[in-house]
Amino acid sequence: MSIAKQYDYEKKKVTTLRLKEMKKKNIKIACLTAYDAITAKVFSEAGIDVLLVGDSLGNVVQGLETTLSVTLDQTIYHTKAVVNGAERSLIVADMPFMTYQVSANEAFTNAGKIMKETGCNAVKLEGCSNVVLEAISKMTEAGIPVMGHLGLTPQSINQFGSYRARGTDESEADKIFNQAHKLQDAGAFSIVLEKIPSELGKKVSESITIPTIGIGAGPYCDGQILVWTDMLGLTVDFNPRFVRHYSNLNDIMTEAVKKYGEDIRASNFPSNKESY
Ligand code: KIV
Repeated sequence: MSIAKQYDYEKKKVTTLRLKEMKKKNIKIACLTAYDAITAKVFSEAGIDVLLVGDSLGNVVQGLETTLSVTLDQTIYHTKAVVNGAERSLIVADMPFMTYQVSANEAFTNAGKIMKETGCNAVKLEGCSNVVLEAISKMTEAGIPVMGHLGLTPQSINQFGSYRARGTDESEADKIFNQAHKLQDAGAFSIVLEKIPSELGKKVSESITIPTIGIGAGPYCDGQILVWTDMLGLTVDFNPRFVRHYSNLNDIMTEAVKKYGEDIRASNFPSNKESY
């Protein structure tokens, strides 16, 4: 490919097909969460391939302990905002707890509502139950691309009882490996692998043809995702080993906001130049 063509290709809107091509060409996929238009625009323009409107919005935006109470309407609201902000990235909406577990038909209807009302490009579901597998088949047949999610699946926290790594013993590792194949066979275009040993991440990534996106699943996955507030150091009280801080926004914002408050109190803001 000529350099000009390569440039056009890289600038073009990311599609599920492109992600599969990237896996084939061994080009790593960069993903982040996003919940609003302004950050989505920054991340998309900075070259992030996939933006996930994660149900982590329950933790990040709403300040909740778990993701379980996030609703379909809240997901739609935040996904619309991300779609409005990001031009190039592929946008995936995370289906909230109990919007896809009851029946494949209900899951199908809810996924359709998310796609129609937000303009996003795909949805994500956790786990590999029979309902999930049937829902994935129905959705993909109807043109709704689905991302799977295995390993530590936060919507099952009450079942797991802890956020410890999954797949650390042989039987659970085999289960995750087999589930990845089932999700691929049902039609998923990609799978998030969360908090599993790096060797298992490698084994799964090498044995399926759809891209794996790791979060605490080691360096061999086809792409990586982090919650943006963790990655940019805005979150202060969550420091698992899989998070790398690329900035320290908490300190930067605190300093700036303190200075703003001080300036107001000292009548240093606004100045004459900043007034009409
Ligand atoms: O909700 C979320 O943000 C996620 C990612 C961490 C994968 O599911």
